[in-house]
Amino acid sequence: MPADASLQIKPLTGSCGAEIFGADISQPLSEGTVRNIRQALLDYNVIFFRDQDITPEQHRSFTKLFGDIVVNPVYDHVPGYPDIMPVIKEANDKYNIGDTWHSDMSYMEIPPLGSLLYAREVPEFGGDTLFSNMYLAWDTLPEPMKQMLDGRNAYHSDRYLTSRVAERNAGRSSKLKADAQPSERLALHPIVRTHEETGRKCLYVNFPFTWAIEGMSREESLPILNQLYQHTSRPEFTCRFRWQKGSLAFWDNRSAMHYACNDYQGKRREMHRTTVAGTAPR
Ligand code: SIN
Repeated sequence: MPADASLQIKPLTGSCGAEIFGADISQPLSEGTVRNIRQALLDYNVIFFRDQDITPEQHRSFTKLFGDIVVNPVYDHVPGYPDIMPVIKEANDKYNIGDTWHSDMSYMEIPPLGSLLYAREVPEFGGDTLFSNMYLAWDTLPEPMKQMLDGRNAYHSDRYLTSRVAERNAGRSSKLKADAQPSERLALHPIVRTHEETGRKCLYVNFPFTWAIEGMSREESLPILNQLYQHTSRPEFTCRFRWQKGSLAFWDNRSAMHYACNDYQGKRREMHRTTVAGTAPR
């Protein structure tokens, strides 16, 4: 397949997600192709490539076309590749990672722009990933809610992940770093962020990492946050991707949340994830 073949883009649903055909991401891509891929990411929040055969080095090279790679501060890395995170569930593991609606690493002061997840081994069925469009989530909130939230901030923390390192590591093959716990990562972000590239507003809160609304206790914040979590996961904002070996998903962490479905007990799934550096939400 020529690296510069013009891309075909097929939307997955009416709300987000598109499959891209005509790109072999193991090969150098022209500036025009990279620009078109980036535009598709902005247009669809998450894009998917199928039948890719890439080495960890090629995964890295493709990621770097979109920005610097961020090392995950909390999870162990693939041996020999500090900037690639293994997302592995062995057949005898009970738990996966990412089985709550979230935006990756929002507990960082500068959370990542996006993540690229590559499927190395997948079950015959099950293990889909769901994505939700946070522009739509914001656009469809009732006006009084918008007025209450716009301009407010919320604290995001990694304590959901790191408060029970040993317990979590016991049931999962993607391991948290043994020293992940002592230093809590805490960041204050706008509840409604303006996307740096599209200029559109999107909701930016998520169940595992958003701790409390600034100026309110966690208990006072939770009824509001829970209402937002319920809203952001409405089916009409989402798409669902069925993986095959060689599929790669690239999602925009600024405008999309995702959810890894743990419905493949007894089956093995192995993915590699890279993460692209972002800018401070505003
Ligand atoms: C993640 O949250 O990055 C994991 C997604 C998945 O395994 O589908």
